[in-house]
Amino acid sequence: MAGNLDGKTALVTGGGSGIGRAASLAYAGEGARVVVADVNVEGGEETVQLIKEAGGEAILVHADVSKPEDTQAMVAQTVEAFGSLDCAFNNAGISGGRERRLTADYLDEDWDRVISINLKGVWLCMKAEIPQMLKQGSGAIVNTASVAGLVGLTGTVAYVAAKHGVTGLTKAAAMEYSSSGIRVNAVCPGYIHTPMVQGIFDENEGYEDRVASRHPIGRLGEPSEIAAAVVWLSSDAASFVTGHNLPVDGGYMAQ
Ligand SMILES: NC(=O)c1ccc[n+]([C@@H]2O[C@H](COP(=O)([O-])OP(=O)(O)OC[C@H]3O[C@@H](n4cnc5c(N)ncnc54)[C@H](O)[C@@H]3O)[C@@H](O)[C@H]2O)c1
Repeated sequence: MAGNLDGKTALVTGGGSGIGRAASLAYAGEGARVVVADVNVEGGEETVQLIKEAGGEAILVHADVSKPEDTQAMVAQTVEAFGSLDCAFNNAGISGGRERRLTADYLDEDWDRVISINLKGVWLCMKAEIPQMLKQGSGAIVNTASVAGLVGLTGTVAYVAAKHGVTGLTKAAAMEYSSSGIRVNAVCPGYIHTPMVQGIFDENEGYEDRVASRHPIGRLGEPSEIAAAVVWLSSDAASFVTGHNLPVDGGYMAQ
């Protein structure tokens, strides 16, 4: 059966876990060759293995998205392995810290760490990907923002600032490159069942139920539900969609 992304190459940062793993599998399911990029080599290898077991093609690249030399090498390795870079999902990210701190109490080192990965990391990825896509005259970039990129949350100011930055980066880059054949969009997930939030739930009894009740749909999302939106935004089915920050959030933003 023909996939929507047959013959294309997809690069996924943070592909070793959660949303990135689900997106890697979904891209492969649509026929794309997948480059799984992560600092977590073990998780990345597992994702590659899952893709291969399902009959797909994938490689792992070790890359820390906060390091420009890594993001440049990640794109170079992608093109070397598969000849092109058609879809880029800039998704790697960290939580704002398990300990919730108000803005005035937020630690400088936490601010720097979160901004360097969740905001600067997305820009560094785009900076490495766009020249290759310009050479090709085509490409689709999807960034992972969050509902925290659209509204405020308490106790995690750097995360909220970084994700608002990602929605801005997405719009600015879309304005600059859409006429050159490169679409740039973002997904804004609500709370999704992944290791990132599971760690927080495990330490705070009752928190998962409270979080679920904030979503009109009455539950958390699954990684595959974000992956479906990412694959759609990456495909020609979304050929007139660019500069869009798409909530995939069980109605969170409708309130
Ligand atoms: N889970 C949620 O509820 C939720 C909601 C909104 C947005 N998000 C965003 O979705 C993205 C994926 O999160 P997830 O929930 O799947 O988390 P996760 O922890 O399951 O996966 C994140 C992956 O990113 C990798 N990573 C972290 N820092 C990295 C770095 N510097 N370089 C390369 N890889 C790095 C991790 O090793 C991990 O494999 C993040 O950007 C997160 O902020 C998550």
